[in-house]
Amino acid sequence: MPLYGQIPNHSKRMLTCMGRSKSSHQWLKSHFDDEFVKRAQREGYRSRAVYKLEEIQQKDRLLKPGMTLVDLGAAPGGWSQYAAQLLKGNGRIIALDLLPMETLAGVEFLQGDFREDAVYTRLLGMLAGNEVDLVMSDMAPNITGMQAVDQPGSMYLAELAVDFAGRVLRKGGVLLFKAFQGEGFDPLVKVLRAQYREIRIRKPRASRPKSREVYVLAKHCYTSNVS
Ligand SMILES: C[S@@+](CC[C@H](N)C(=O)[O-])C[C@H]1O[C@@H](n2cnc3c(N)ncnc32)[C@H](O)[C@@H]1O
Repeated sequence: MPLYGQIPNHSKRMLTCMGRSKSSHQWLKSHFDDEFVKRAQREGYRSRAVYKLEEIQQKDRLLKPGMTLVDLGAAPGGWSQYAAQLLKGNGRIIALDLLPMETLAGVEFLQGDFREDAVYTRLLGMLAGNEVDLVMSDMAPNITGMQAVDQPGSMYLAELAVDFAGRVLRKGGVLLFKAFQGEGFDPLVKVLRAQYREIRIRKPRASRPKSREVYVLAKHCYTSNVS
């Protein structure tokens, strides 16, 4: 896996598959010039995404020792790494991703596509009917740059995360997920308002200003559907 002061594997792959085009060179330059990429390398985190969760945590205090949480779209593992530090070995973290993820102490990992029923069912099986305190999802499809493809793809992942949270959260539980503002966003937030007491939209500093990406925080689930 990635990291620390080296070119992360995913960027190496990108170098190979994109060749040495001007645009790939520009992408890599802006990636490695990025304040949060540099910080992640310095501080030993697996991804710059960790600073999005850190900023939300500083404001909203979601992560606490003793909790059970599910991290969807977890690879390369920045969020899980940060969560494991805050839980201090007390609690349970289950991470899922399409891609493999290097082992992290205190984190159980399931590799698979969350859109597949079999994977969804395996994740439910790992929980074995135990209630979850926090579901967080940083899942995003590969961005093509075509709004007509990217928006429905990302909304679908967001809807799956909402559906999953509705099935596993305890009463009072919390859902945090990434979504892109655009078609389908407002109706989804409307649905959430009926299920959670408080909805907040967060745009952490590490989320690129040009991106439509935001994080939806749904606090205090009204009911538990865990049987
Ligand atoms: C922005 S990255 C997550 C970064 C992560 N939060 C971290 O801190 O390192 C988005 C992740 O979502 C995953 N993903 C996208 N679609 C998925 C799917 N259908 N099922 C599971 N994971 C998916 C991708 O493989 C990718 O690793």
